[in-house]
Amino acid sequence: MKLFDVYPLFDIEPVKAKGSFVWDKNGIKYLDLYGGHAVISIGHSHPTYVETLTEQLNKIGFYSNSVKITMQEELAEKLGKLSGYSNYELFLCNSGAEANENALKLASFHTGKKKIIAFGKSFHGRTSLAVATTDDSKILAPVNETENIVFLPLNDEKAFDEAMNNDVCAVIVEGIQGVGGVNIPSNSFLKKLKDDCEKFGALLILDEIQSGYGRSGKFFAHQYSEIQPDIITIAKGMGNGFPVAGVLIHPDIKAKHGMLGTTFGGNYLACTAAITVLDIIEEEALIDNAFKMGNYLMNELKQIEGVKEVRGLGLMIGIEFYEPCGEIRNQLLFKHKIFTGSSSDKNTLRVLPSLTITKVELDQFLYAFKAVLSKQLVK
Ligand SMILES: Cc1ncc(COP(=O)(O)O)c(C=O)c1O
Repeated sequence: MKLFDVYPLFDIEPVKAKGSFVWDKNGIKYLDLYGGHAVISIGHSHPTYVETLTEQLNKIGFYSNSVKITMQEELAEKLGKLSGYSNYELFLCNSGAEANENALKLASFHTGKKKIIAFGKSFHGRTSLAVATTDDSKILAPVNETENIVFLPLNDEKAFDEAMNNDVCAVIVEGIQGVGGVNIPSNSFLKKLKDDCEKFGALLILDEIQSGYGRSGKFFAHQYSEIQPDIITIAKGMGNGFPVAGVLIHPDIKAKHGMLGTTFGGNYLACTAAITVLDIIEEEALIDNAFKMGNYLMNELKQIEGVKEVRGLGLMIGIEFYEPCGEIRNQLLFKHKIFTGSSSDKNTLRVLPSLTITKVELDQFLYAFKAVLSKQLVK
């Protein structure tokens, strides 16, 4: 059997990883400033993560959600404390799309309504409602087309005023837009969304799948504003590569048996990975590191000739150029052995390192980045 060919692949095969580095099968070492789509939070193959997962696998790897799994409660407790959302409730699932799918369903269950507001350049995943709220017609199958969703420009309060009404069950927005090219909703815009959701009986869903888990220099990117959303979705950095995701739910939204569910969500290995990630984030003060290293990198980048704009918070950084930057990304990867990310905006490069990144590692990137850009400028 062959693989279903849906991914354009780099001809590189990583076989080993440690911290911010990966090695390919030829022994070539790469600096990883992308973490496989912002997944690596505590660094590749963190020794404690390897140890706790190995230990757990030797005890029990899986049972379904028909029995008591107290590790889920331990995870919820730790997550509540570290995120500042102790009074919320947690539903565990397996991927970002699944988290958003459940969040949107929950908003509809809770309000009894079906209209949703999403934003231009959004990405919320590839399952039915997640893809319908994603602003990319290329990945929308005819069966996913729905009149229940309206897209508005991000940070456009007037457009929001005109569109918001009593039929809306949910407004979904990323803490920082990732795939769309690192665009930040302003504090006043988030406040407006929250206030109007309350006024019109809708729920505000913050998709923190890419921007959460300390990446922004706060646990959640929306915590730079004063708002508390009704629902928050998490994935990516939550498991440092182990597939695990979650939905944080305001206590006013009441659970009913059978309302949501999953076979794999919250299994022992997923909980072990997620608990270890939270422990390491706390023990190694990684949110603080993300804030400091992010500021250092963004300040340096802003001074480089050829860079049009640097956007971001903490270690979620978009570098916009005056023209498409595919060649810059290729040069960084193939010549300087540094992984970075693209975005749906062809002119914007994404930098999403592990939260453990050091100044020395960032300097290695800056040195290579300047070398690539000075060659581009000469051309
Ligand atoms: C903001 C955001 N939401 C949702 C998703 C979907 O997550 P997954 O690929 O785990 O389904 C992504 C993935 O890139 C994302 O960046």
